[in-house]
Amino acid sequence: MVIEQKEPGISAPDEVLLRILDVGICGTDWEICTFEYGTPPPGDDYLVIGHEALAEVVATGSAVERLQPGDLVVPSVRRPCPHPGCLACRSGHQDYCYTGDFTERGIKEAHGYMTEYVVEQERYLNLVPPGLRESAVLTEPLTVAEKALAQVSWMMRQRPPWLDPATPGEERGRGLSAVVLGVGPVGLLGAMVMASAGFTTWVYSRELPPSPRIDLVTAIGATYVSSQATTFADLAEQVGNIDLIYEAAGHSHFALEALRWLGTNGIFVLTGVPGVQAFREADPARLMRQMVLNNQILLGTVNAGPTAFASALHNLELFSQTWPATVRSLIAGRYPPESAPELILGRPSGVKSVVAF
Ligand code: BGC
Repeated sequence: MVIEQKEPGISAPDEVLLRILDVGICGTDWEICTFEYGTPPPGDDYLVIGHEALAEVVATGSAVERLQPGDLVVPSVRRPCPHPGCLACRSGHQDYCYTGDFTERGIKEAHGYMTEYVVEQERYLNLVPPGLRESAVLTEPLTVAEKALAQVSWMMRQRPPWLDPATPGEERGRGLSAVVLGVGPVGLLGAMVMASAGFTTWVYSRELPPSPRIDLVTAIGATYVSSQATTFADLAEQVGNIDLIYEAAGHSHFALEALRWLGTNGIFVLTGVPGVQAFREADPARLMRQMVLNNQILLGTVNAGPTAFASALHNLELFSQTWPATVRSLIAGRYPPESAPELILGRPSGVKSVVAF
């Protein structure tokens, strides 16, 4: 539903008035709009959605130092909880909030960015190079993979494959395999991150060819395998030891099945936030035995802090140079705000739909 709101204004010295340019639509918006997820701010009976935004600075408060009118910025999503004892939020790492009382713009108890103007504190804004005007709306979903890879790389230094800390970024995954589950935006961006870090990358999802999404996988040098044509067992045989599984399908049954095929010393990263899904029986003893005897890691990760935003912006520039056509075609189209309900609730066409103001 489109509503009229009062135009916001700067009321504190560290605030920035932004004009929203692009807002990406994602699965979380669908969950919010089908009332499975999301909460309005206290006292409001509606939530302005939108959390993947690109905006232009219109005006700055007197204490703002890094930004000036005309700059492009991408805001982060999470805001800290108020509890003095929350080690994560008090140190600027609200993506690791202990209390659960954080807010998320456009998702949890704070209005989002699908509106013409917003006010935001400078510290939550990431400066975007002007050359990324067309693609920077992909920054926020890309931070999911950036944060995951940063954690994976750190672990790979402390345990097998004992990655040398001096290894250049593009060689971190050399000789290792990564299987990405899901071919939506988070999956595709995840595949780009893994492939550009040197992993031999596979993408496994339901979709059958021909499909533009599968073409994107191939264009970045990864291999696509459809779960409708190939079982996990056959996939695992093709890949060999699966060093990394990056789950981006949000499907709990698929994820649980994939976990069985994780390789020795492998890391399994979960990024999906599934809604209610059918109950499924599992064999926890077998899983436990497998995970213990193979030193496996199961890592859940939610985006994202300033470092992940910085590396997402860095990688977007790199991807735009390495795979220009692919980056362009990740954006399915730009549509007026009135189309948002249809874009969110209808069947997704292409990869990332963007509402442009
Ligand atoms: C957003 C994250 C958010 C998560 C959980 C994702 O779609 O990108 O910023 O933390 O949903 O609400």
